Amino acid sequence: MKQAILTHEIPGFKTKEEFWNPYHWYKEMRDNHPVYYHEGQQVWNVFTYENVKRVLSDYQLFSSKSERTQIAALSQDSGELDRTTVIFSDPPEHRKRRSLLSAAFTPRHLKNWEPRINTIVNELIQDMDQMSEIDIVGSFAIPLPITIIAELLGVPAVDRKLFKQWVDIIFLPFSSGNLAEQNEKKAKAALEFSEYLHPVIKGKRENPGDDIISDLINVEVDEDRLTDDEIIKMTRGLLGAGLETTSHLIANCFYSFLYDKPGIYQTLREDIDLVPKAIEEVLRYRFNIMKLERTIKEDTDLFGPKMKKGEMIIAWTSAANLDEAVFPHPEQFDIFRPNNREHLTFGNGPHFCLGAPLARLEVEIALKAFIKHYPNIQSVPSFDFVDHLSFSAFGQSLNYLPIIAEH
Ligand code: HEM
Repeated sequence: MKQAILTHEIPGFKTKEEFWNPYHWYKEMRDNHPVYYHEGQQVWNVFTYENVKRVLSDYQLFSSKSERTQIAALSQDSGELDRTTVIFSDPPEHRKRRSLLSAAFTPRHLKNWEPRINTIVNELIQDMDQMSEIDIVGSFAIPLPITIIAELLGVPAVDRKLFKQWVDIIFLPFSSGNLAEQNEKKAKAALEFSEYLHPVIKGKRENPGDDIISDLINVEVDEDRLTDDEIIKMTRGLLGAGLETTSHLIANCFYSFLYDKPGIYQTLREDIDLVPKAIEEVLRYRFNIMKLERTIKEDTDLFGPKMKKGEMIIAWTSAANLDEAVFPHPEQFDIFRPNNREHLTFGNGPHFCLGAPLARLEVEIALKAFIKHYPNIQSVPSFDFVDHLSFSAFGQSLNYLPIIAEH
């Protein structure tokens, strides 16, 4: 069973505001403690762009297999490699496992999915027309990725609420308190998810469709086929990787347009082709508590201090995204940066996010359609973000963001 790492304890933040705007702490760490051992959690931490990139790309020294984790369901992901483990494996095994999934994310597949994404986006926007005030989180950021993934996996969209509930529990980061209880809840949600999917897979074995589960049924691994349990595990992995991340991105786009850089929405309306650049800047600037864990494979003094084989290291990608060595004036939200796509929010190296093209595509389609439909948006004066932040894999995520949208 994996041990938990309580990463949110590392910055020692006391308030939600600090989690939401951690820029000062990152600068302090990059400038004064770029390689830092946290005694409480017993983990190394790196913060500069160069070091974070090195940890993520140097799989010979920094392994994705680990005995400790920030988020996974402990009892489910024991750290043992099986033939479906993608994110927690290292090359060369990793390459083969990743290829099982990568077929689903090729540009050709994405092209096929574009009309389905367009339809889902337009339906959601139409539903918003009846609202005088739109909660972007509840009406757009949460339902969009769930509906799209449910559709791409080939499970009925009507079940998306169940999906959301399970995923929320399975992938909630561990907090202090009763870890055994949190683990038990996660295991229960994983079991319910699995019980739900067994008949869905059985149905697709008899009647395959044009979807990811049917693709996984047909894929060959070691001259064999995947079992139902393996397909369920991979599906769970995709949901974990793709839902909350994309919801967070959509909500934060709107937050940034209203609060980080007022006026940018109008700029985008006048030149809609700037939308992809705006998305990259939100990924760089407002994905602000993103961090990835690795296990140190050999004793090393690569970063100065002696690090021992078996110790854990956290690569703070969000801190790296604010490193002035790479992004001048990093604390300014600027969609016109020539290099804002160089952020590390999708990772780096062999594990670079497989779903990045899908996430970019769906958020681009969503924002362009929204901006065309609603040329003006305004914030709601009584809204105070502090009252609407929830603990999440990203430190804090907005659970509510009201806006006034006008035709
Ligand atoms: C891996 C971020 C959306 C599927 C990763 C990694 C990051 C990441 C940082 C690397 C993890 C590591 O190195 O340990 C994000 C962000 C997203 C997003 C910020 C949205 C804004 C998606 C979507 C999917 C997806 C929509 C699919 C439905 C995956 C998979 C991996 C992965 C399968 C594992 C790749 C591997 O280990 O080789 N993601 N992700 N992601 N992501 Fe994403």
